Amino acid sequence: MNAKNRIYFDYNATTPVHPEVVKIMDEFYLQKFGNAGSAHTFGLKAFEGVHWARKTCAEFLRGKPENIIFTSGGSEADNLALQGRLYKYKEEHPNSIPHLIITSIEHPAVFETAKFLENQGFKVTYLSVNKEGAVSAKQVQEAIREDTALISIMYANNEIGTINPIKEIGQVAKKAGIMLHTDAVQAFAKVKIDVQRENIDLLSVSAHKFYGPKGIGFLYVKNDDDMEKNASSAAKYLRPLMYGGSQEFNMRPATENVPGLVGMAKAVELAEKDFDLEYSRLVKLRDYLIDHILQEIPETKLNGSRTNRLPHNVNICFQNIYAYDLMIKLDAAGIACSVGAACHAGETKPSRVLLGIGLNSDEAAASLRFSLGRWTTQEHIDELLRLLEKYVTEMRKKA
Ligand SMILES: Cc1ncc(COP(=O)(O)O)c(C=O)c1O
Repeated sequence: MNAKNRIYFDYNATTPVHPEVVKIMDEFYLQKFGNAGSAHTFGLKAFEGVHWARKTCAEFLRGKPENIIFTSGGSEADNLALQGRLYKYKEEHPNSIPHLIITSIEHPAVFETAKFLENQGFKVTYLSVNKEGAVSAKQVQEAIREDTALISIMYANNEIGTINPIKEIGQVAKKAGIMLHTDAVQAFAKVKIDVQRENIDLLSVSAHKFYGPKGIGFLYVKNDDDMEKNASSAAKYLRPLMYGGSQEFNMRPATENVPGLVGMAKAVELAEKDFDLEYSRLVKLRDYLIDHILQEIPETKLNGSRTNRLPHNVNICFQNIYAYDLMIKLDAAGIACSVGAACHAGETKPSRVLLGIGLNSDEAAASLRFSLGRWTTQEHIDELLRLLEKYVTEMRKKA
């Protein structure tokens, strides 16, 4: 799935839509196009699609259909979790100043929402991360206060791929009776997640990171044990961001984006089908790329953890190289990779994530992210290695 003569190494930014996803979306655009809320056959066909999508997404996480609140993507799911939970807590505890715990290297969808909440008078603790980019359950434990309303720790980082010890953090949160949210936008469908086993209460997902369409995602919301069948606990834990119709268990109004959510569910189904095979294939390619860069190109270092990282993420610091220029040279040669995170590319500030793991601003500006995916081959990796060696040598000679 590479445009002619171009090689894509930016799957953390977004992925191409799988042809089978396009196929099912086409069906829901052209034939089953009804409003899922309509009582006639067109409506019922669309409703069936919504129900199937909800069930498919839920079961992949070992959850139930009523746990899924469809959103416009990861950013909205994160906003709903953070704003929804803190405002709900405030409603329930009017005399409190609700407190939120996040890490200092969250994606802006969480980080900027936390800043907004801070400006609104809520309290936020920003946990620092270790050199590999992870927080510990002990740090979370120590940050808990009487009015902590939510702990939000990303499952895996979008720039350096580091995976957090969510299961251990989940145990801490459960023991303290505090809800745990995790931004799993980069991890979902890449590593196995079990919301029950890991004590995750809220979890954000975005379809365009795993071969689904852009502009669709969901927030998983835990259900209470005593909930009636097919009912959701979302309104108990969260205040909605928007008001309108009764869609998504009264938590997120708007006519359902049926082609989008059916497409997302098809992408989930495809991920599940060959999960283990694809996981080990990617790990092998990732490790080959890391090993060869570190061995063959002098003065390079890996950002993030060697082993505790997403199967498809590589982030390298090329000392004394301006990574933006290297990225442009690679692009001119037909290879796409990224400096910082693509969602906010164009920023000239050094990456908050790379500074957060202890790099100085020169090292941060010398770092590039290569992310692999379903259509990455060994030949692509070899071509990338060849060009990296050539360009880095040339650029260092010139400097
Ligand atoms: C970790 C993380 N969270 C949230 C988002 C936002 O997701 P969306 O683009 O669907 O709004 C992204 C997108 O890059 C991400 O990587």
